[in-house]
Amino acid sequence: MKRIAIVTGASGGIGQAFVRELQKETLDEIWVVGRNQQRLLSLQHEFGERITPVCKDLTKDDDLLSFSDLLKKQRPSVLWLINNAGTARMAPSIEFSFSEIGQTIDLNCKAPAALINLCIPFMEKGAKILNISSASSFQPVPYLNLYAATKAFARSYSRALHMELKPRGITVTAVCPGWVDTDMLSTEMNGQKIHFPGITTPQKVVKKALSDVKKGKDMSICTFYVKCQHWNVKLLPQKWTMKIWLHGIKKYL
Ligand SMILES: NC(=O)c1ccc[n+]([C@@H]2O[C@H](COP(=O)([O-])OP(=O)(O)OC[C@H]3O[C@@H](n4cnc5c(N)ncnc54)[C@H](OP(=O)(O)O)[C@@H]3O)[C@@H](O)[C@H]2O)c1
Repeated sequence: MKRIAIVTGASGGIGQAFVRELQKETLDEIWVVGRNQQRLLSLQHEFGERITPVCKDLTKDDDLLSFSDLLKKQRPSVLWLINNAGTARMAPSIEFSFSEIGQTIDLNCKAPAALINLCIPFMEKGAKILNISSASSFQPVPYLNLYAATKAFARSYSRALHMELKPRGITVTAVCPGWVDTDMLSTEMNGQKIHFPGITTPQKVVKKALSDVKKGKDMSICTFYVKCQHWNVKLLPQKWTMKIWLHGIKKYL
């Protein structure tokens, strides 16, 4: 039975860093999932034949079902499932169309929950699930509202599932980075160049995540800056932490 890792959003900044680090693991294949076949093939060129492109749009039910068919046909042992694909937009909530609301929730919430249930039958003791949440999951975040709420789902879902799957020896970890230097971040808003306090690299986030996963942690928080944010939201009323956030972003609105 071949041993595999599955990384969604593998062609993005954090996804690629996961694929790079997974090269060190004993795996027969790394299934890299995303919509853009060319970008997945370029991962295969960079990292070799173990990389298996799986071109899927995770917001589409048909693509989730065909992913399920692929698993049932190949019957691999899934050692790692890394639910990393995600989408974000910073804007007033009122500006989001019906379809954008649906696609954001489908990609950030529904797809990870569905993929987990598809993969568990192919997981044995020691298998690891990572859901990429965000520091924005710590509190409600005006103007990043939809995204932050989906990431709160990811964090809560992961931690509860970690408890549920403990008897089976499967760990679930919510990875909660602050700002990470990838294409997801817009460089400007309303003509203002955006400054991202405490920004870090995908490599640092991924190394910390894999180290925390191996310690069996249900949450991974990278950098001292984000740890301070986590403590702050535990200590301060949420109205205050929202006001602090609004103060920081008011020049971009
Ligand atoms: N960057 C940050 O500051 C930050 C902070 C905290 C958490 N995160 C989280 O980290 C994760 C990775 O983000 P990133 O910064 O690496 O973003 P990124 O560079 O924009 O990558 C996003 C990835 O998601 C894939 N994707 C997008 N829509 C998809 C769909 N419908 N179906 C399948 N794949 C899809 C993209 O590939 P295709 O376009 O080819 O489909 C791409 O590989 C996300 O969950 C994000 O919310 C990021």
